[in-house]
Amino acid sequence: MTSSAIVGSGRLLPMSGAETGETGLIEGPWVITLHEGAIHEVRLGRLRPGDPEKVVDVGTALCTPGLVDPHTHLIYAGDRSDEIAARSRGERYDGGGILRTVAATTAAGDAELVSATRARLLDAAAAGTTTIEVKSGYGLATEAELRLLQLIRVAAAGLALRTRRTFLGAHAVPAGSTPSEQAEVVIEALPTVAPEADHIDVFCESHLFDLALTRRIATAGAAHGLSLKLHADQLEHTGAALLGAELGALSVDHLEQAVASDARALAATSTVPTILPGPALMLGAGMPPVRALLDAGACVAIGSDANAGTFGQPSMPLAIGLAVALGFSIHEALWAATAGAARSLGLAECVGSITPGAAADIVAWDAEHEGVFAFRLGGVDPAWTWFGGERR
Ligand code: NIG
Ligand code: FE
Repeated sequence: MTSSAIVGSGRLLPMSGAETGETGLIEGPWVITLHEGAIHEVRLGRLRPGDPEKVVDVGTALCTPGLVDPHTHLIYAGDRSDEIAARSRGERYDGGGILRTVAATTAAGDAELVSATRARLLDAAAAGTTTIEVKSGYGLATEAELRLLQLIRVAAAGLALRTRRTFLGAHAVPAGSTPSEQAEVVIEALPTVAPEADHIDVFCESHLFDLALTRRIATAGAAHGLSLKLHADQLEHTGAALLGAELGALSVDHLEQAVASDARALAATSTVPTILPGPALMLGAGMPPVRALLDAGACVAIGSDANAGTFGQPSMPLAIGLAVALGFSIHEALWAATAGAARSLGLAECVGSITPGAAADIVAWDAEHEGVFAFRLGGVDPAWTWFGGERR
């Protein structure tokens, strides 16, 4: 692979700081050199002798790392828009609709699932995402979950997108079964599914998988090499976020019912609180303690949570805009959608920042100032994208 350079005269947000919101803003002229798919050097000034000959000048375009979406459920079939309509009339969400998606997904053929998932991955990539996590969870039975994890790999093959897969067999309880029976199914599935997954996740709620079952599943997952991500304190305040931190989870996600003391406790751990602004706002049943987390100094991530039932848009620019509506500053939201999200996937060394040694995943936007992420709410598009040093 060759060397190349990107030059600009506008705003560059390399996300070089370790704290949420520390963008390391550089105002041009600046130069980024790329070598063997990685960032080689980031500096102020102009090209000089010895710099690579292959150069793209992005002019005054705003530049950021490729966006990282750390929480999606993109592999599914079927349509539950009727549930969204019912909720808009006041119905409550309890996760029950997940079983409708399990039925539709189980009935769908491999080719249909692959093409629907690939289309959603392409939408994410077109919106500036270069790394994405995708969960199973609409299969539940061992073979069905294994199929989904394998098909995520097939759907992502050849795309300019880094993909991480999460086993979410503990997403719902099949009709006629009990939470502890489904927990046993999940634990027994581990030898089969673990080779096809990076992480394990549990929808921890007292009516689904309670704290004790979540601990059992997480511990069994760890024994098979799967690091933990949790659906925590979304519908009820169960204490799942703090359990996740105790278990050394990479991230605890949702947190709509978490309280200020959870926020302070999380900030003192390496577990990343991950805020999902789309479903939080659409379900409207409690908002995560965003300012308490940020003011306590937590390293926060945001994700799209694109899924079959509560929110369908795999757009990180939209998640960033909505995060601002929840109380993030623009810089905090952009950091959370890059460096923070990378950390929540255990990938902070490789993606989420434009720093020497990181993968050369870079977006130059059709904008000059980061304020447009809130101003245009989702309507910000990449003008140029580099993935592993190559133009996408
Ligand atoms: O993250 N909360 C649980 N899982 C998904 C929703 C899944 C569904 O309703 O299909 C979420 O919001
Ligand atoms: Fe989710």
